[in-house]
Amino acid sequence: MANDINRFQAIIAHCKEYGFIFPSSEIYDGLSAVYDYGQYGSELKKNIRDYWWKSMTQLHENIVGIDAAIFMHPTTWKASGHVDNFSDPMIDNRDSKKRYRVDHLIEGYADELKSKGQAEEADALLTRMDQLLAADDFAGLKELILANHIKCAVSGTDNWTDIRQFNLMFSTQMGSTGGEEANEIYLRPETAQGIFVNFLNVQKSGRMKIPFGIAQIGKAFRNEIVARQFIFRMREFEQMEMQFFIRPGTQKEWYEYWKQERMNWHLSLGIPASRYRFHDHTKLAFYADAACDIEYDFPIGFKEVEGIHSRTDHDLGSHQRFSKKKIAYFDNEINQSYTPYVVETSIGLDRTVLMVLSEAYEEEDLSTAEKKDSRVVLRFPPRLAPIKLAVFPLLKKDGLPEIARQVMDECKPHFRCFYEEKDAIGKRYRRMDAIGTPFCITIDHQTKEDNTVTIRHRDTMLQERIPLSEVRAVVEKGIL
Ligand code: GAP
Repeated sequence: MANDINRFQAIIAHCKEYGFIFPSSEIYDGLSAVYDYGQYGSELKKNIRDYWWKSMTQLHENIVGIDAAIFMHPTTWKASGHVDNFSDPMIDNRDSKKRYRVDHLIEGYADELKSKGQAEEADALLTRMDQLLAADDFAGLKELILANHIKCAVSGTDNWTDIRQFNLMFSTQMGSTGGEEANEIYLRPETAQGIFVNFLNVQKSGRMKIPFGIAQIGKAFRNEIVARQFIFRMREFEQMEMQFFIRPGTQKEWYEYWKQERMNWHLSLGIPASRYRFHDHTKLAFYADAACDIEYDFPIGFKEVEGIHSRTDHDLGSHQRFSKKKIAYFDNEINQSYTPYVVETSIGLDRTVLMVLSEAYEEEDLSTAEKKDSRVVLRFPPRLAPIKLAVFPLLKKDGLPEIARQVMDECKPHFRCFYEEKDAIGKRYRRMDAIGTPFCITIDHQTKEDNTVTIRHRDTMLQERIPLSEVRAVVEKGIL
């Protein structure tokens, strides 16, 4: 088995080779931190998106979904605090002209120390960094970088500028290009604000009673500076967010509820609990009264995949002030009107794709005393697999393709199938292992005699004969 960094590189290469994820506009040498999903990646992503949507909306009667526009009135981002505060401390290397997020630069160095067995030094460095970040002490942070001789990976020097704040929002013009009438608008850096500005619309039109939630999935854009971790940190990505509106004073219990509920969702993907941990925030945003991340053990280490935030009435209150529209809820049970508090769950879809891929990827040694052999298999939970069933006629003749086509016609309205008649059957199985297809069936001459087929299971590679008439039911049961 490859070590973790090699494993990460192997996953990236596998994603490209097998049609999961490609660098964006690759024929022009790509665009940094932007990726395209290929034929299998887009199916995998869609299956994860659908699974989240169903579990959050269909299975929670008090949560509804919306689909707000990416472009929003520019004042939205004043009210949310993004225009003034959505920035990170950055530092530039004068020799390479490369810009780094200060925390990422120091964390990268701490990882190096850990890999050299200097875990205590690394922890002390990170603790000091957290203290300085909490105090917004930029001079102190620069001192820390210089004292530790942290160097730019490109130039190899520590010729650093002072630390400055850098806003992460992308902007563009709406209306006529340039001139007086053009308005600067932003590409949303989170989907959450589309929910807050629609709170009254949804609450009133849906006659929603608190507590209730509004969920949304969609693209978000951030001008990330250190963006070299494949789809972990992208400039254009997708979020799956849910804002849960509650009575003020009940936020602690709802925060705990959503922490547990979201962890249960992660475990329902079949990923063991040992691969996750909670990371409680010590430095809270000024409006939050509790926040944590769910971290997954990626090949690049434990990293955030989802955030759970108790956001008080900050967002609705702020939109009320900026829009001068009353945003309140009348609670019949206590006969009071108030601005609801919010507990948010926010998970990155692309990071979830990377998590599912990282968990599924396996290089399996199948060597025997007689023969060396191996395979790459993606052990996706069957419900998330891009292709559920591959249908193979053993030969391209003797009426076998015709029977295989009949199976395709019966199954493809119900789940994603794949037909292939080229190459030896073993090769076809391996190609399906590499894209994570849980079931393959082979139609052979015996099928013509007794109406049975061979079904082959991806994980065990075991093969058994089942009646042709049961193929659909067996696969449907297996992908529940
Ligand atoms: N509305 C709250 C919010 O946006 P966040 O912690 O900034 O919170 C939530 O983002 C999630 O979005 C993260 O846990 C991560 O999964 C995903 N995410 C954030 N920035 C990302 C990026 N540049 N690339 C990919 N996913 C990202």
